[in-house]
This record gives sequence, C-alpha cells and structure tokens, in this order.
Amino acid sequence: MAIGIFDSGLGGLTVLDAVQKRLPDLEFVYFADSAHAPYGVRNADDIYQLTVASVEKLWDAGCDLVILACNTASAAALRRMQEGGLPKGKRVLGVFVPLIEALTERQWGDNSPPREVEVKHVALFATPATVASRAFQRELAFRAIGVDVEAQACGGVVDAIEDGDMILAEALVRSHVDALKRKMPNPEAAILGCTHYPLLQEVFQAALGEHVKVYSQANLVAESLADYLKRHPDMYGQGTAGYLTTGNPAKVTDRATQFLRRRLQFAAA
Ligand code: DGL
Repeated sequence: MAIGIFDSGLGGLTVLDAVQKRLPDLEFVYFADSAHAPYGVRNADDIYQLTVASVEKLWDAGCDLVILACNTASAAALRRMQEGGLPKGKRVLGVFVPLIEALTERQWGDNSPPREVEVKHVALFATPATVASRAFQRELAFRAIGVDVEAQACGGVVDAIEDGDMILAEALVRSHVDALKRKMPNPEAAILGCTHYPLLQEVFQAALGEHVKVYSQANLVAESLADYLKRHPDMYGQGTAGYLTTGNPAKVTDRATQFLRRRLQFAAA
C-alpha cells in the first residue's frame, strides 16, 4: 500500500518529509530521476517524456496515485498527462494548486470566479522551465485578479543542490533574490516554486527580509494530500515503500541522508 512521490532528484524529499510527518501510517515510494536532473533547463517535450517514463515506473511499483513533487514536471507535463488519459484507476496530482489556494486563501474545490486577494506583489522563484511555462500565472489567473507576479528563473541552484555544493547554491540564491528585487523592489510574498528550494528557505528569507511572507510547498502539499485521501480512500495503491533512483544509488543515498538528516537507502530504478 504506497503512494508514489516523484521528482527529478532530491527536491521532492522536502515534500516526502512533510507528507510522512502528516500521514505517518502511510507508505510512500519515492522516485528520483537523478540521471536526467535537472529538468529545469530542458524543453517542455523532453520534461514530458521523462516525467511519463518515471511515473510509469511508479505504476509498475504498484502505486495508483502519484504526486509530481516537482514544479517543473507539474508545469510542463501534468496537464498533458491528464488530458492524454491515464491508465484506468491511476491518478497524478501536481504541486501548484495547493500553493495557489494558500496564496489566494481558497478552500479546495472553490471554483468561484477569480477575485481580489490580499497580496498584490508576488515574487516567484522557480526553474527556467517553470518560469517559461507561465503555468503559475495561468493557475493564479483562474483564482485571483490584480496580482502582479514577477518571476525569477533561478538558473544553477538545482545543479548546485544535486551536487551537494550548498555554498554555491546559497550564493546563487542571494544573486537571484537581488535580480528579482531590481525588477520588483517590494514584494509582499515570495513563492518558492521549486521543491528543491525549501532546502535553502532560510537563505531566501534572509535575502528577501523578514517582512516578506515566504510560501513553500511541502506542508501545503501534505495537507492537501491528507484531504484528498479522505475523499479518495481507494487511492492507496499496492506498492511497497522504498526509494528508487535512475542515478547512482550510493551517491543519491548519501546526499538524501545529508539533506533529511536521516538515513534513506536508495536502490536502482
Ligand atoms: N524540484 C524540481 C521543481 O520543483 C525540479 C528541479 C529540476 O530538476 O530542475 O521544479
């Protein structure tokens, strides 16, 4: 009985950690497509093909429900996968909507017309592919009007995290926040629109200033999954918990253990 959690690499562990804490009785199969990470510098077609191949591995592992714990895959592949039709009894969920519902103070399933919301100036930090897709702005426009979104493509940050070079990752975050502030000097809120970025949340917060509300996805996704499973208790699947990677299992095990500060043992996918 397991739910699939997918990311291009280690970022989805921030989501896995939050869902394991929120839903301690459930089992999860985590799949990291480390051999092809980062996705954020690839084109939409490429991201779609890689995401489909990874999700199929999670179906094969017995999962019926897969969370794309990756904004880049959610932006480039989720809608296309859902529109193309999924195998019978299988579902895929992304990570954008819970975040946007939190930002726009909406409950799940509130399909009322878009309305004015409290925040007016929002900074979005995400991978180049997520920024290029404009998926965040599209989903936001369904729910809110009058929100000015300034997006900053944070090139290099995911590579640095995957390589375990946190000094470089921190320096890059500071320079991306500076670049954002040149375009939008006073954001009220900031969205960490990549599941790798919560690993650097304190660096984002310090560079942005304490007055900026930083939204990160892990807890929001965990809450939304708990709510979804209450409504769909048939989606628990058959798989056995585990950690799979298309990369080097020993290397991914080391990095993952370092990030979550607990031992995670990856096996070859
Ligand atoms: N963690 C991912 C995201 O949320 C993807 C990063 C990447 O592979 O570029 O966008």
